[in-house]
Amino acid sequence: MKAVQYQNGGGPDVLSLVDVARPEPADGEVLVEMRAASVNPVDAKLRERGAGQRPKTTGSDLAGVVTAVGDEVAGYEVGDRVFATGLHTDRFSGGSFAEFATVPTDLLAPLPDGVRFEAGAAVALVGVTAWRALVHHAGLEPGSTALIHGGNGGVGHIAVGLADVLGATPVATARAEYHEMVRELGAETVLDYTRDDLTEAVHEATAGADVILDHLPETYAELDVEVAAVGGDVVIIAGESVALPNAAVARSKELNVQLMSMSNLATHATLPAIGPILERLGRLLETNRLEVRIDRTETLENAAVAHRAVMEESIAGKIVVVP
Ligand SMILES: NC(=O)c1ccc[n+]([C@@H]2O[C@H](COP(=O)([O-])OP(=O)(O)OC[C@H]3O[C@@H](n4cnc5c(N)ncnc54)[C@H](OP(=O)(O)O)[C@@H]3O)[C@@H](O)[C@H]2O)c1
Repeated sequence: MKAVQYQNGGGPDVLSLVDVARPEPADGEVLVEMRAASVNPVDAKLRERGAGQRPKTTGSDLAGVVTAVGDEVAGYEVGDRVFATGLHTDRFSGGSFAEFATVPTDLLAPLPDGVRFEAGAAVALVGVTAWRALVHHAGLEPGSTALIHGGNGGVGHIAVGLADVLGATPVATARAEYHEMVRELGAETVLDYTRDDLTEAVHEATAGADVILDHLPETYAELDVEVAAVGGDVVIIAGESVALPNAAVARSKELNVQLMSMSNLATHATLPAIGPILERLGRLLETNRLEVRIDRTETLENAAVAHRAVMEESIAGKIVVVP
């Protein structure tokens, strides 16, 4: 089968499409014929660092059809439509940018019939991330206000839709060209992140944000603290060096600043499993209560283009990769 792998770390050009043996499902795993995968910044970051097992097949999430079932698997049969994420983690050398992938059932859920493979692949990692941040960490409640930075991005656009369906009021930032899209996804207000008075504008729109989802804390941690409501939750999902220059304000507001990585759900048995979260996301997609936007589709041959784009381009939602 064909797979997109790297041996050493580096730029997108270290990726090559190679022929490798089709894997066999181990105990507790199913073999999935990939119909769609999606690219995430973590794929590019891991590739750049050459981190983890190698050769590594890139790709975190996929949707496809079960073609073989290992021992000790309950609830899945050959022919089932499924979607999964977590394949980028240290548990694996195999990822989703391949014609077939073996997937443990804790990382998997049935993909409802009405949901396209492309949508399942696109939502998986970003949907679990948004769920973990808003539901598990922030305990988002109906009636609360959620500030989502980057409302057109992979995580951001799902977080906007999820906050809306959970009964909260999403307020998002995005460049002007995406305002209509982000409003359609459920944001009550969308603010251009390039404006000079962003802090005041968020204040005005939220009167204190109960929940904040931040993937650029080096830029926005100070703003987050300024605009958060007393007792608010700030969930930080990225950044290498988070500092709170206004820690005294954060303390006076008794903010909960939480740092998270959805990858932990794939690697720490004591944390909630990915499968049940995917199952909920699948239900929301099936019933049209959540929408995933696909900016464009690339082929496995163009995996390097997808990797470059997710780091360098502005994207409306997700880029999907097909075999
Ligand atoms: N910890 C975790 O579990 C976890 C999980 C998923 C993702 N992440 C991380 O979270 C980050 C976002 O992931 P993603 O998949 O959503 O990426 P993405 O699809 O590339 O989205 C990035 C978003 O950030 C926006 N943005 C860029 N510069 C900005 C600025 N100066 N101010 C405000 N917004 C800005 C982009 O807007 P433009 O289109 O205008 O550039 C876009 O909306 C990545 O670093 C990723 O590795 C972490």
